[in-house]
Amino acid sequence: MAQENIQADSETAEQRLPRHVAMIMDGNGRWAKQRNLPRYMGHREGVKAVRRVVEACLNRGIEALTLFAFSSENWRRPKTEVGLLMDLFVHTLKKEITRLDRNGVRMRFIGDRSAFDPKLRTLMDAAEQQTAHNDKLTLVIAVNYGGRWDLAEAARRLAVRVAEGSLDPQQIDADAVGRELCNADLPEPDLFIRTGGEQRISNYLLWQLAYTELYFTDSLWPDFDETAFADALRSFSGRQRRFGQTGDQVERPGSA
Ligand code: IPE
Ligand code: IPE
Ligand code: MG
Repeated sequence: MAQENIQADSETAEQRLPRHVAMIMDGNGRWAKQRNLPRYMGHREGVKAVRRVVEACLNRGIEALTLFAFSSENWRRPKTEVGLLMDLFVHTLKKEITRLDRNGVRMRFIGDRSAFDPKLRTLMDAAEQQTAHNDKLTLVIAVNYGGRWDLAEAARRLAVRVAEGSLDPQQIDADAVGRELCNADLPEPDLFIRTGGEQRISNYLLWQLAYTELYFTDSLWPDFDETAFADALRSFSGRQRRFGQTGDQVERPGSA
């Protein structure tokens, strides 16, 4: 093994890794524009970056990866772009599912599926069922997802239980709300990565990101590679997560 590989491996081994990474894959359109290509080509190139990141998570033993593929606000884009994005989604899912399954990836989709055509919904259901037993990596794709939608759905479900008489309003606390949200069964995201240079959350996992470490990079999503991911992981590993406590308390648990 080359000397630099040995070094890279030992560096990885020492790093504190996130269990769950949540990403906003942004910058496809600008990537294409820089090359005088139609925006769609940026989305197509972005699929390769998804493949790279999934592989990197598998290699590193990261438990969960949540990717924002289409927001509830992205319907506002030109009809042709929305249509092309849906086609790409279907095409990619069909093409990748066997390999993902073989690699031990458990697929999940979060977001309001009612807006999708039945064929796409069937495809999503089938991918989830086919991979339900896998346990290497949970890959969550957020499509027609919005953090406010997620919270509103949780509120509605709790309200229904109150109306039915099976839930006392006094029992509704932060844990009760959290249990109703998407990804409730996964560890909360430890690391959030947004590519494309914008520093905003864009209605992503609003509740779930409460204590997530945020990382923004100017890298456009189609350019995001193993090295860029390693940079984000290194940044994460160097941070002290205090969850409201003091630095001393975190460094010396039980001291005061
Ligand atoms: C992210 O890239 C992909 C989706 C939102 C579907 P964009 O399409 O937003 O790319 P930019 O921000 O226009 O460069
Ligand atoms: C966020 O990116 C949504 C996805 C990456 C799917 P956008 O490009 O839609 O975000 P805004 O509109 O610039 O905030
Ligand atoms: Mg964008």
